[in-house]
Amino acid sequence: MRQPIIAGNWKMNNTIAATKALLTDLIPLVADAKAEVVVCVPYTNIAAAGELVKGTNIKLGAENVHWAEKGAFTGEISADMLVELGVEYVIIGHSERRQYFGETDQTVNARVKAALSKGLKPIICVGETLEEREGGIVEEVLVRQTTEAFKDIDKDQLENIVIAYEPVWAIGTGKTATAQDANDTIAIIRNTMAKLYCEKCAEEKVRIQYGGSMNPKNASELMAMPQIDGGLIGGASLKAVDFSQVVKY
Ligand code: PGA
Repeated sequence: MRQPIIAGNWKMNNTIAATKALLTDLIPLVADAKAEVVVCVPYTNIAAAGELVKGTNIKLGAENVHWAEKGAFTGEISADMLVELGVEYVIIGHSERRQYFGETDQTVNARVKAALSKGLKPIICVGETLEEREGGIVEEVLVRQTTEAFKDIDKDQLENIVIAYEPVWAIGTGKTATAQDANDTIAIIRNTMAKLYCEKCAEEKVRIQYGGSMNPKNASELMAMPQIDGGLIGGASLKAVDFSQVVKY
């Protein structure tokens, strides 16, 4: 059984004051959730968020991590720094990082390895752009992104990794992939994992989320699909009520 996992991706939103207000509202709303609940917050909010979610069912996540253990990487944050603050999950390879910050399949793989080596659980983002979809190369793109992200990653680590399928054209646009389409595309990713590892591992251990304009209105339909194991939620994770409704789809 793959336990559903719903993660909020706050992106570059919320001061510490706003973090406290949002989490104070959210904690009671999701206390009885069946899904695993994660909030991935900006670095500056991790300490405050960590204090608030301590002893609750909400797990703490970050939005990126550097691949080096330490050193001359101005502006970057290491896995040790996140672990020290109680971070459990970390988003890696989000399409905004691929698009605006030069993230590549290779840097994604390096970050995944660094995260795993310190016991952090990566949420690895993959997904095609509109151009790639219209060009009919969705499968090619997803197979490449998945294969490169998992290069040299041991089978034993699979239960510590989540994949988020986020079609770039659906992020923050209000356009959601249809549930059937998201399901079928996620099947391509699961099939890739089966080939890279084994059928049983892909079936039993690999959790794959959908992300891209997922909200209280479409969450239940998406979550009803057999391939979809959860969601990575941007906009709708910034309002406690909306996020709680997605969490409890
Ligand atoms: P969205 O973002 O829910 O606002 O579309 C999802 C994401 O980018 O993770």
